[in-house]
Amino acid sequence: MILSIEHLIEHGRAQLDSCSDSAKLDAQLLLCFVLEKERSYLLTWPDKILSQAQSSQYLELLARRINGEPIAYIVGVKEFWSLPFFVSPATLIPRPDTEILIELVLTHYGEKQNLNCLDLGTGTGAIALALASELPSWHIDAIDFSFDAVALAKRNAKALALSQVNIYQSDWFSKVSQSTSFEIIVSNPPYIDGNDENLSVGDVRFEPKSALVANEQGLGDIADITAKAVNYLAPNGALFFEHGFEQGKAVRNILRTAGFNDIETVKDLNGHDRITWGKLSITSKI
Ligand SMILES: C[S@@+](CC[C@H](N)C(=O)[O-])C[C@H]1O[C@@H](n2cnc3c(N)ncnc32)[C@H](O)[C@@H]1O
Repeated sequence: MILSIEHLIEHGRAQLDSCSDSAKLDAQLLLCFVLEKERSYLLTWPDKILSQAQSSQYLELLARRINGEPIAYIVGVKEFWSLPFFVSPATLIPRPDTEILIELVLTHYGEKQNLNCLDLGTGTGAIALALASELPSWHIDAIDFSFDAVALAKRNAKALALSQVNIYQSDWFSKVSQSTSFEIIVSNPPYIDGNDENLSVGDVRFEPKSALVANEQGLGDIADITAKAVNYLAPNGALFFEHGFEQGKAVRNILRTAGFNDIETVKDLNGHDRITWGKLSITSKI
């Protein structure tokens, strides 16, 4: 095989065509990772010949991708809210749909200064750090059950120079101080039913079940968080959830039953229910 950039991309594209919707892009991203260059470099130097070591590394990464491993885990980075996040198998790879939650918070609360905000199940830190990048006056706490995810989120906070976000390990609210009232609580919790056949397809096969699966048809964590959130929200505080595309009605019911009002569900880019949020009635807090 000729070991030029152009030929290696074409070889990768052909190998990935049957298993990836973005075969050429995947091949380019793997080559960028090997060469430590931007994609523009590949287009500018298609005839450049790679060393034997570089080609071997590329073919090894290609084999992992053919085996289904997500590109983000192979290269270790994923862009979210136009920021580069380190990722690892400790937690979920941030998804574009989650950016809708950020947009929603900014739309309704972006003008407000010095709010207390809590991100439950922060994973890479995606939601908390994206909000912190937009809202420097806010006091943001971010927790995760997984110690590895907490370490990863802290690494991202440092790399993004957003170390003001307070990141720590907690089983939902177990280590969150009740002396703080949060005006905003956000969460993209596990929400997939354990029997969902999509768990055996695509990228999610490589992501930890602890980040994906919840009991009660995927609604267990949302119900648990909602029940506890009423003790941590400020009067008229808001709770935002990302959830499954068929869970909008159920999540609205959970919020309504717990005493939330002004409840709204917002659709994702495919027109599916994706984010539901509401405000806690002033009288609901104990
Ligand atoms: C769907 S992932 C979301 C990650 C990240 N917020 C994002 O949007 O990309 C859910 C996260 O919740 C965490 N988690 C699961 N159960 C938890 C619990 N009982 N307490 C705290 N975090 C939990 C998982 O470790 C995982 O990082």
